[in-house]
Amino acid sequence: MKTFVDKVAVVTGGGSGIGAALACAFAGEGMHVVVADIEADRAEQVAAEARALGVRSLAVRTDVAEADQVWALADAAFEQFGEVHVLCNNAGVLLMGSLTDKRAGDWRWVFSVNLMGVVHGIEAFLPRMRGQGGEGHILNTASVAALGAGGIYGASKAAVLSLSESLQSELAGTGIGVSVLCPSYVNSRIVGAQRNRPAEFGPLADEPYGRMEVTTGLDPSTVANATLRAIRSGELYVFTYPRHGREKLEPPFEARCEQIRKAIALGQEPDPS
Ligand SMILES: NC(=O)c1ccc[n+]([C@@H]2O[C@H](COP(=O)([O-])OP(=O)(O)OC[C@H]3O[C@@H](n4cnc5c(N)ncnc54)[C@H](O)[C@@H]3O)[C@@H](O)[C@H]2O)c1
Repeated sequence: MKTFVDKVAVVTGGGSGIGAALACAFAGEGMHVVVADIEADRAEQVAAEARALGVRSLAVRTDVAEADQVWALADAAFEQFGEVHVLCNNAGVLLMGSLTDKRAGDWRWVFSVNLMGVVHGIEAFLPRMRGQGGEGHILNTASVAALGAGGIYGASKAAVLSLSESLQSELAGTGIGVSVLCPSYVNSRIVGAQRNRPAEFGPLADEPYGRMEVTTGLDPSTVANATLRAIRSGELYVFTYPRHGREKLEPPFEARCEQIRKAIALGQEPDPS
């Protein structure tokens, strides 16, 4: 997508961290923004920040795990602005610690937000984005945790990475681009995500880090700027990590690829002769 001025962006999880930075970065480019978040007051606060940059903005309380709420968000966005050009399926929750001590309710909660939130966004927005013609873009927020052993969280983000790859290939040539954001260690409130966990998913899981706010990671505005660049140039993968993070990220990734390459080589059906 080449031009941003006067276009419309919707950001889920826009009330904090990466989503708030994305909303403000879009506003800084002259885009009108819809800020959706399960925390209504935070969404309103970010929408006000966007308005202060001279664009139109709307805050909508949305739980992305609930399909009907995401459809209501899409209705509100199209009703208010007529068109939506960039959809950021960014809302996400984190559950840390060992996978084996978690319960089914923990899995259901994390997947309901991290995976189904993205699915709901695509279902509610994409047909209308395609119907309006012209260029558009869908950004799904995964994580570097998608690349390896990342517990429940990593499993949900691996699903987001995979579905984004499928979506990009399915939408090739339609004018709608797809990017998948894989950040690492960004300053945000993600560690205390269980504050928004609905009771239907059972008792809160034990978390080693409680409700700590991350303050020693990457500034979310750096992530937002990298994302805007990727949307502009149509890049599928967007990785962001703190300085010297590459030395930590690449070796386990290379080792995994090598192991898979070897396993693929061994997997061929034996020669019948
Ligand atoms: N912070 C990191 O280091 C990091 C790394 C990799 C990926 N991510 C991903 O980035 C995205 C943004 O997270 P963040 O780090 O900015 O965290 P954050 O907690 O600061 O922001 C996430 C926002 O999503 C909202 N939210 C939570 N559940 C929701 C729901 N069901 N419906 C709608 N909104 C909901 C929260 O209220 C919050 O405002 C997430 O998908 C996260 O998994 C973050």
